[in-house]
Amino acid sequence: MMQIKIELRPVDQLEAEALIVPVFEERKEARFAAGDLFDAGEVSGKSLELTLLHHPPGVAAKRVLLAGAGKIEKFNSAELRKVVGAAVRHLKSKSVKKIAFGIDPAYATADYVSAAVEGAVLADFEPDRYKTGNDKKSVDEFMVGAWGGNLAEQERSPLEEGVSRGRILGEAQNFTRSLVNEPGNLLTPAKMAEAARQMAATYQLDCEVLERAQMEELGMRALLGVSQGSAEPPAFIVLRYKAAKAESAAHLGLVGKGVTFDTGGISIKPSESMEKMKYDMAGGAAMMGAMRAIAQLQPALAVTAFIPCVENMPGSRAQRPGDIVVAMSGKTIEVINTDAEGRLILADALTYARRQGCTHLVDAATLTGAVSVALGHLNVGLFASDDALRDRVLRAAKAEGERMWTMPLEDDYKDYLKSAFADLANVGGRYGGAVTAAMFLKEFAEDTPWVHLDIAGTAWLDESKPFLAKGPTGVGVRTMVRLATDWMK
Ligand code: BES
Ligand code: MN
Ligand code: ZN
Repeated sequence: MMQIKIELRPVDQLEAEALIVPVFEERKEARFAAGDLFDAGEVSGKSLELTLLHHPPGVAAKRVLLAGAGKIEKFNSAELRKVVGAAVRHLKSKSVKKIAFGIDPAYATADYVSAAVEGAVLADFEPDRYKTGNDKKSVDEFMVGAWGGNLAEQERSPLEEGVSRGRILGEAQNFTRSLVNEPGNLLTPAKMAEAARQMAATYQLDCEVLERAQMEELGMRALLGVSQGSAEPPAFIVLRYKAAKAESAAHLGLVGKGVTFDTGGISIKPSESMEKMKYDMAGGAAMMGAMRAIAQLQPALAVTAFIPCVENMPGSRAQRPGDIVVAMSGKTIEVINTDAEGRLILADALTYARRQGCTHLVDAATLTGAVSVALGHLNVGLFASDDALRDRVLRAAKAEGERMWTMPLEDDYKDYLKSAFADLANVGGRYGGAVTAAMFLKEFAEDTPWVHLDIAGTAWLDESKPFLAKGPTGVGVRTMVRLATDWMK
């Protein structure tokens, strides 16, 4: 586990194995005898360019890592998160264990410090839990200090606030990432519920897990239909955060898809890449990670997470194409394709969240392959029934450097979901797959202001980035936490 420390001494005096120094394109770094490298064209300051200097003059650290931060006018906290992340991953690969980072006085705000710390915490994560070798790389210590003299009392508070928030957010995202990376045999719905219970006990959240009998009682037939093909019983996780002193009458509901493995069911998926379908609970895990951070940051409004967990399997008990189920809301659904299971479990989760008194709903789900066709792997697909809530989510996403793009949600698309035999079909036609999936959910969000985030294209990295390991990204956690903590702003 990486230790994070605030240092009062100026960073040039810290005896680290390496000191990370962001360098900009227009501001040729002259310290550490780096001026020559700029002049020679060896260092340019381009984003994420890394240059390791040994025995740098003027600092106590053994090495300086010049970390390209790009153009000054484009620089922001999201960029700093990546710069520090790339630097830490690089140093980690060289077995450097004790790293220092000095915040430039121009960027000594809690947001920048938080982003830097998060970058380091996220970079420390490797999806190597099940590797048995002893060659695992990790960082022991990350020291944060400031350039210039010893820190005065009043200068410490943005640093302290930033380090604290950065640690909370970074660890929440890594918590989500490690859950998402768990294989389907080890993370069943029951195990996911167990992880929720444990997390809730640690951070003083209220946790309730509905079992199959209770779901039957509640009439969650859409959810239960998906689950019935699996030997693993379903689990519906409810995590409640109550503000000590609420400053808003709003009750935010965070709904996350928790399909611990998606084979497609009887409409079975092709075997190619099916192993990736262990990440079909990334939306649920993101909401769990967000609740973990919310419990620590204590925003002044009520937030409840609803995470329906099931395994989607074929088998003699499995739901058939053509089956008709009555959802908890009373609407009937013709299940044309058993692989469109996420919307079925979310339908009941949205209904339940509404009945629990949520005034605003946001869901996150690895819902469709079609969202990747539309947006690639760069943007989350965002669908909203309410402009004000949409703007809140977009603002939060922007502040946190999570890219989201608004997609259409117009009533005319409803025709795509027509069924001859039930109120609606669970799939539309060949086109507009991400939109029709969202339109399906809208039928169950009804008139409660609601935003749907399709994270199928962004919750998993097929190749590592300089600042992030291959595998789960933890997308959604930061935006949900910011949405809650900035609610009154
Ligand atoms: N979990 C998948 C969506 C998915 C696909 C996520 C690829 C990540 C990568 C979802 O349950 C699903 O199977 N959706 C179908 C919907 C279709 C049957 C209308 C899809 O996208 O193919
Ligand atoms: Mn599916
Ligand atoms: Zn799925």
